[in-house]
Amino acid sequence: MDQIKKYIDEAREFTAQNPAELEEFRIKFLSKKGILNDLFARFKEVPNEQKKEFGQVVNELKNIVNEKVATLKESFENIGEIHSKLDLTRPGEIHELGARHPINIVKNRIIDIFSRIGFTLSDGPEIEDDWHNFTALNLPEHHPARDMQDTFFIEKGPDVVLRTHTSSVQIRYMEENKPPMRILSPGRVYRNEAISSRSHMMFHQIEGLYIDKDVSFADLRQTLSYFTEALFGKSKIRLRPSYFPFTEPSAEVDVYWGLETETDYRMTKGTGWLEIMGCGMVDPNVLKNVNIDPEEYTGFAFGMGIERIALLLYQIGDIRMYTENDIRFLEQFKSELF
Ligand code: PHE
Repeated sequence: MDQIKKYIDEAREFTAQNPAELEEFRIKFLSKKGILNDLFARFKEVPNEQKKEFGQVVNELKNIVNEKVATLKESFENIGEIHSKLDLTRPGEIHELGARHPINIVKNRIIDIFSRIGFTLSDGPEIEDDWHNFTALNLPEHHPARDMQDTFFIEKGPDVVLRTHTSSVQIRYMEENKPPMRILSPGRVYRNEAISSRSHMMFHQIEGLYIDKDVSFADLRQTLSYFTEALFGKSKIRLRPSYFPFTEPSAEVDVYWGLETETDYRMTKGTGWLEIMGCGMVDPNVLKNVNIDPEEYTGFAFGMGIERIALLLYQIGDIRMYTENDIRFLEQFKSELF
């Protein structure tokens, strides 16, 4: 009896690493000369009063062994099936990485270029009040220059607008900080312009502001030349007199793109020059509006549209491509690190 109980324990605990081990187990218990046949053969030797108990225990052992053999056999068959379908020589599946959007790439590159010369980031709300978007920037109510920017007014009241430029961030920053200051503010801006291939209701600008003692127009020019060299590899720029209410004097910045290829010719309409941004010396009225003494401090500001810069940098044919999310367009920016 003790020996049979040991067999029961053995059978219960048995596991096989492979079909050969299982076969060994099967032969040991179930073959003609196996343990079970031997036990059944000895049944007649068992005294009558023990026959019942003996029979039960041997049957229990038989059931356990049979079940064990059946389940292990099935699991080996399953593994065999998986293995026959599994091709370990097949190359693994590649996990595709997405690409950054060109607007983000260009924004980050511009930030990187200006951060090397001490500019830090600052931001403000896209829903702006009249003061920060217009009045403090030397655009009082009824000023004709307000028409330059087709403003979206928010229902809440005439005072609340979607900011038409990132210049509003200048005001917010100057209100809360003391010079010297060097900031860069990227962000979305909104204008109610007719939709064409060249304009959007929402686009991205990046604004720079530098205020300190003795900041000159020459500093502005030098800074912008450093920037165009770093971004386009072209340092030749020209400043054309222009008008912005918040800067005086004001200028449009053109970069000399060159006329080496047909594309250059087409992009620059045969002039070699491309307009890339607006800039100027911060108007003394603006400084007064934020309690900075214009006798003590001067500064410059510049602002550019990121869509336009990206258009030039990557020779993108149509501004609508930015928002169509065509994978074939977006994929082309995969190699860009920024
Ligand atoms: N805010 C101007 C625009 O949106 C750009 C600009 C910024 C011009 C700073 C001069 C100085 O057109």
